[in-house]
Amino acid sequence: MPSETDAGVTDPGWPMERAVGLAAKGPAHGPNPRVGAVLVAPDGSVVGEGWHDGAGTPHAEVAAIANAASRGASTVGTTAFVTLEPCAHSGRTGPCTDALTAAGVAQVVYAVPDPNPVAAGGASVLTERGIGARWEPHSGAVALNERWLVAVARQRPYVIAKWAQTVDGRIAARDGSSFWITGEAAREHAHHVRAEADAIVVGTQTVIADDPLLSARPGGADAAHQPLRVVMGLRETNGARIWRDKNAVHIATHEPATVLDVLHERQARTVIVEGGAGVLTAFLREGLVDELNVYIAPALLGAGITAIGDLGIATMGDALRAERVEVTSLGMDTLVRAHMAPHAS
Ligand SMILES: NC(=O)c1ccc[n+]([C@@H]2O[C@H](COP(=O)([O-])OP(=O)(O)OC[C@H]3O[C@@H](n4cnc5c(N)ncnc54)[C@H](OP(=O)(O)O)[C@@H]3O)[C@@H](O)[C@H]2O)c1
Repeated sequence: MPSETDAGVTDPGWPMERAVGLAAKGPAHGPNPRVGAVLVAPDGSVVGEGWHDGAGTPHAEVAAIANAASRGASTVGTTAFVTLEPCAHSGRTGPCTDALTAAGVAQVVYAVPDPNPVAAGGASVLTERGIGARWEPHSGAVALNERWLVAVARQRPYVIAKWAQTVDGRIAARDGSSFWITGEAAREHAHHVRAEADAIVVGTQTVIADDPLLSARPGGADAAHQPLRVVMGLRETNGARIWRDKNAVHIATHEPATVLDVLHERQARTVIVEGGAGVLTAFLREGLVDELNVYIAPALLGAGITAIGDLGIATMGDALRAERVEVTSLGMDTLVRAHMAPHAS
């Protein structure tokens, strides 16, 4: 909630910063973007603010208008700072352009144009109605919705390929054992990443070898949101622990694109591919990986299963490369988070 000190603030950048902070309160998983909105009166005071809390809940603009009403504040003549261009379509909720119009908002400043063809065009609708609509780019708003923006642009979920390996690139020993390559801090981190994903995909052989639960357990407890567990491959894995989850899905295919089509249809926008080598290699070979999360343990095996197999690359110039990387120490282990350059083909 805004404090007394918000009144009279004149720095033009602060409301969008505040809207981005509000947007971050929304869930990272689910089919919708994270959006925040701040309504600022002509005197510079905040009269309402809100954020989108996931599919089926009010959009940020509507939440901010409701917030103003709950304070008894007028929204007439305000400027709405919104992290995403207001939608102009009726989905589960009505168009935000209509809500802003009805609230008497005088102008709208948005940080990211809506790339979703179904919802786009809000700025033009507002302009036609005499409401000023200005695009003010904000990198924080883009970063917050990086996965969603990729999913909309490519019409498939954002894909994170995740694995834990020794420094010599092994994900399992010669006998197939892979518990526990990395330490507590790395595993804890991976559980947080799972809790923000819509689905986790593994190959049948990983289910047979490891019998994983694939649940998100940050802090050792089941997260409120659990990603959909998905097994790809032709064999049946009846009796494995993953099937204790009645929602878990078996997709009998070797085609990564088919898996992504099924998951996109089921509203998944962030998918983690957790191995093993066969499945990770298939997604990389098809150019269907947006981000690598590689947890590297200071251990050597010298033999065993190599993380990634043949990608059909013969020369250095064709190597799959990251365009951005973050490196984090997690206890004795290292996480390399690589954002891959879009695939050329
Ligand atoms: N360290 C880690 O992070 C980590 C993570 C996961 C697994 N692992 C380890 O990795 C090992 C399993 O790896 P893996 O490579 O043998 O198995 P995998 O990738 O888990 O599964 C391979 C199987 O999946 C099916 N499959 C589905 N799509 C495929 C595709 N496009 N290409 C190839 N196979 C496809 C095939 O079985 P069907 O005949 O059923 O179609 C194939 O035999 C285990 O030892 C496990 O412990 C380690």
